[in-house]
Amino acid sequence: MTLLLLFLAYAVALSVALGRAGHRSQSRAGGGTSGLTPPASILIIGATGGTGRQLLTKALERGYRVIALVRDPLGLRLEHPGLTVVRGDVLDADSVDRAMRGQQAVLCALGHKRYFGPTRILSEGTRNILRSMRAHGVRRLVCETSLGIGDSAGRMGLYYTLFVIPVILPFYYWDKTRQERLIAASELDWVVVRPGALSNAQGRGRYREGAGVGSYVWTVRISRADVADFMLGQLTSGTWLRTAVGISW
Ligand SMILES: NC(=O)c1ccc[n+]([C@@H]2O[C@H](COP(=O)([O-])OP(=O)(O)OC[C@H]3O[C@@H](n4cnc5c(N)ncnc54)[C@H](OP(=O)(O)O)[C@@H]3O)[C@@H](O)[C@H]2O)c1
Repeated sequence: MTLLLLFLAYAVALSVALGRAGHRSQSRAGGGTSGLTPPASILIIGATGGTGRQLLTKALERGYRVIALVRDPLGLRLEHPGLTVVRGDVLDADSVDRAMRGQQAVLCALGHKRYFGPTRILSEGTRNILRSMRAHGVRRLVCETSLGIGDSAGRMGLYYTLFVIPVILPFYYWDKTRQERLIAASELDWVVVRPGALSNAQGRGRYREGAGVGSYVWTVRISRADVADFMLGQLTSGTWLRTAVGISW
């Protein structure tokens, strides 16, 4: 019983700490500039991953020229006249620079599976992206993080707040708070997109978005296809500019 109480205290304290450490948006939509000019060419980070794949196919379908920075080009299994693949690593600043050249926007769906130890992959990778964006005059960044940090702490629902995050993902989520803070401290035109639990289901094309998305009790979900749809939409909308916005079905 004592152990259980200690564990619950740890889980709640972690959730509070993630809330304080992550970005806290004003609870209003950001820029209010709608109808931004679409970028001609976009860099996708994480294009071999679940969300990244959806971003890649949808971006090409919508006629964007796409550069994908990937560690293993064979992992992409896609050829398209609008797609250029750059082999590299987000932790290698030179390869990020090579991929950034000539781009007008960045979509980042970076993630990894090194859950069980301190990690800075998300934050250091994002630091390289931000540095390279400044160097190449690229202003627009849309980056996927997660509900459960900053002013969305606890909003992944009890299962995540009391089990998944404290047991499996404490280091990972802590790094996400650093990632969000780096982005929010930048002078760039950014949108942080915080989805609920991800699935590979078909996109519905309809989802909830905003500061109040998520539940303190139930796990809220959304498909990667819908997250990609929303992220691409942020390239031409100023509604959530310089805010962290939750998204779920
Ligand atoms: N799973 C969920 O329920 C959930 C919920 C909310 C938020 N999220 C977040 O959403 C994001 C996307 O998740 P996902 O499951 O769709 O993606 P994912 O399948 O985990 O893909 C991650 C991508 O990041 C790439 N990557 C990792 N390290 C890299 C490096 N050093 N350099 C370049 N690329 C690197 C991976 O490339 P490789 O193919 O080379 O590994 C892969 O393309 C993650 O940040 C995740 O935490 C997930």
